[in-house]
Amino acid sequence: MGILKLILVPVAIGVFIAAVWNLLPEKEVIVEENNFYGSGKLRADIEEIKPFKVNVDQSVIDDLKQRLQNARISHSVLEDSDDFFYGFNSKQLLKLRDYWLNKYDWRKQETILNQFPQFTTEIEGLQVHFLHVKPPKSYKIIKPILVAHGWPGNVFEFYKFIPILTDPKKHGINSEFAFEVIAPSIPGYGWSEQPKKTGFSQLACARVFRKLMLRLGFDKFYLQGGDWGSIITSLLTKVYPENVIALHMNMIPAMPGASLMGTFYDILGWLVPSTLSSKELQKTHNPFAKFGVLIVETGYMHLQATKPDTAGTSLNDSPIGLAAYIIEKFSTWTNTDYRALPDGGLNKKFTNDELLTIVMIYWTNGNIVSSQRFYREFFLDRRCEALAKRYVPTPTAHASGLNELYDRCPIEVSRYLFNITHYTEIEMGHFAAFEAPKPLAASVFDFVKDLE
Ligand SMILES: *[C@@H]1O[C@H](CO)[C@@H](O)[C@H](O)[C@H]1NC(C)=O
Repeated sequence: MGILKLILVPVAIGVFIAAVWNLLPEKEVIVEENNFYGSGKLRADIEEIKPFKVNVDQSVIDDLKQRLQNARISHSVLEDSDDFFYGFNSKQLLKLRDYWLNKYDWRKQETILNQFPQFTTEIEGLQVHFLHVKPPKSYKIIKPILVAHGWPGNVFEFYKFIPILTDPKKHGINSEFAFEVIAPSIPGYGWSEQPKKTGFSQLACARVFRKLMLRLGFDKFYLQGGDWGSIITSLLTKVYPENVIALHMNMIPAMPGASLMGTFYDILGWLVPSTLSSKELQKTHNPFAKFGVLIVETGYMHLQATKPDTAGTSLNDSPIGLAAYIIEKFSTWTNTDYRALPDGGLNKKFTNDELLTIVMIYWTNGNIVSSQRFYREFFLDRRCEALAKRYVPTPTAHASGLNELYDRCPIEVSRYLFNITHYTEIEMGHFAAFEAPKPLAASVFDFVKDLE
């Protein structure tokens, strides 16, 4: 009886929620053509595209050093827990501070950040920053792609990924075409301006990114994204399908229960694993265990979705606090097993320079609070939820990270929400482009080639 209850109760709850959600008619979703998130009164955008270079004032770097020197890391790890199970290990944090103060060279990182052409342009009252990287002249066929990042990242996640997309042959990928890459910073992240008004949701961001592509002269393009990037790109595809040729995601936004048939196969795949085509997922698939992981690992989300300005205050004031908060995610989300390691396995996939540059982009722009507000806006904009149920007929690829904490969605489920024409499983975690640029790019090329 115990086992039966264990199975039947969650199944009944899952099916019930999915049924109620799906039997309710889709709320009409109206997306305004224009909105204004700039400071002050509504005014027309200045549509000029201006070149941009990262150049942080020396006073910001001096202030950072002072704060790092004075940082108070006076707590010590529990004697029997020298790992990341309680969060960022303070022993490791002391080492990281030492590296940051004595070895990390921001000016060198600035040169790296400035290696690609960057621009800003005003959209809906906000300066939007983006990288725009073109392939070498030797490619006769060029396809435009917008790549969208998430939290707690920024466009720096794409610095090893972009050169493969723009010049596949140089990286051992046999392709006659190359991509022209546009990588925007989400407003409130990176070097894009912070929204000054409420309501800048993922849907607003999708509209802004579409406007950016139209302004650059692309009215049909490809999309790639993970984390918020996958939600933004899938919303863009749902609302403006006429502009999207194909959609590639490394985290598929398939909300549990969003499709009744999907929910059925999700549960069936758990009870009868042989109904799943993925051999990997046959071993591990359990839609209910996901909720356990979500509860253990998403406290940050609840905080940011409710009180971002409170949660962000100390992060914006303390570089060491900010680093602990952000970099911890690059441990756990890359592989949950890394929680058991004293150093969080941080340098297994990333260098200290890479991790600190992600943090520095938040620090020097002072935009951790605005990045956190994006969670609040997601849950406040009910259209995002209504659109979660809408089917995407546009050809879609899912590059599934085998260590991805939030995803692991079998094609038997995702096919009810997206027209999945390409599915690959890659040994990688959440920060796909940052961790596994080559296999991720290869999957983008394979997907697009298959469509021709
Ligand atoms: C999915 O996309 C492919 C490729 O463009 C197309 O042939 C097919 O009709 C689409 N399927 C659906 C259900 O829209």
